[in-house]
Amino acid sequence: MKQRILSVALIAVMVLSLTLTGCGNSGSSDGGENQGGSGKVVGVAMPTQSSERWIKDGRNMKSKLEDLGYEVFLQYAEDDVQVQLAQIETMIAKDVDCLVVAAVDSSALINALKTAQEVGIPVISYDRLLMNTDSVNYYASFDNEGVGRKIGEYIEEKAELKDAKEPQTIEFFMGSPDDNNAVLLYKGVMSVLEKYLDDGTLICKSGRTSFDDTCILRWSQETALQNCENYLSGFYADEKLDICCSAFDGFAYGIKAALEAAGYSEDDWPIITGQDAEVMAVKNIIDGKQTATIFKDTGLLADKCAGMVQAVIEGSEPEINDTETYDNGKMVVPSYLCEPQSLDKDNYKELVIDSGYYKEEEVMNAK
Ligand code: BGC
Repeated sequence: MKQRILSVALIAVMVLSLTLTGCGNSGSSDGGENQGGSGKVVGVAMPTQSSERWIKDGRNMKSKLEDLGYEVFLQYAEDDVQVQLAQIETMIAKDVDCLVVAAVDSSALINALKTAQEVGIPVISYDRLLMNTDSVNYYASFDNEGVGRKIGEYIEEKAELKDAKEPQTIEFFMGSPDDNNAVLLYKGVMSVLEKYLDDGTLICKSGRTSFDDTCILRWSQETALQNCENYLSGFYADEKLDICCSAFDGFAYGIKAALEAAGYSEDDWPIITGQDAEVMAVKNIIDGKQTATIFKDTGLLADKCAGMVQAVIEGSEPEINDTETYDNGKMVVPSYLCEPQSLDKDNYKELVIDSGYYKEEEVMNAK
């Protein structure tokens, strides 16, 4: 590992973070034991294991980086901002050779990332953009506004909005306000649906259509369930809810529970969207309890991100395909963006079963 003179600040950080780690924070550690060929260590900070997508991301990153010969120090923060900060400080104190961060709330990480930059540790922003910092080298993600656009276009087509004879009701369940992806997704959704709200083709009876009114902190499934219950009891006693524009599979599970409790059946089940194509969501789509999701191939994302790690460690140029879109408030971060795809009952087989992304029994047995 590189020899560096640690600054006084870093030593303070090290003492603090080792203390915190010793206090039993809940992040899971899976690092340090693998013997990579190069002796280089990559710290990977993931947000949470509460959703299947991030478990897959962590697993993919670990195995791709190990295949490239690196040791991997992988930690999950269970959506706790301070836990993630302490984990990243510990990675810096361990003098990792590269940091990969999928932030819980990147505003809390600005100083730690600065320290990383000062001691020469390159930082790669994974899936969620690290905001308001110039201490980031590259960004690997999906076209996040494209995710929202695809959700909007799916609703437009499925609800036949272009030739609608009568208005349909809709409610929105948007992502976490501290996640730049959520803001972009909302923008994408509204780029398609706003005109239908304006001309009365879509009616949102709660009146909650802005991002601020519909965002759900930390992408909480429970909050989505409660919001849906409140909408149903407050605004849909006499009229059915036709469309749930949901930004996340986790929200779709909460919405499903609220609809079942309110007595919705297959005859009046609304259109429900999602994001991530989790196995449970694919199962619900097959069973008719969710209508669609957005498939994001996290294996591909991990490939691109691992390639970036290798390039920054070896001092070469990584593969990027966007140098304009991702302005984090301090800099435009050079990015590689993967393409999201809409998935529903008609194409799930081709996208996730035939491709080998999931085994059929894994989907059928999802609980
Ligand atoms: C990701 C989504 C995910 C969400 C909730 C976002 O940053 O881009 O794929 O559904 O976080 O975990």
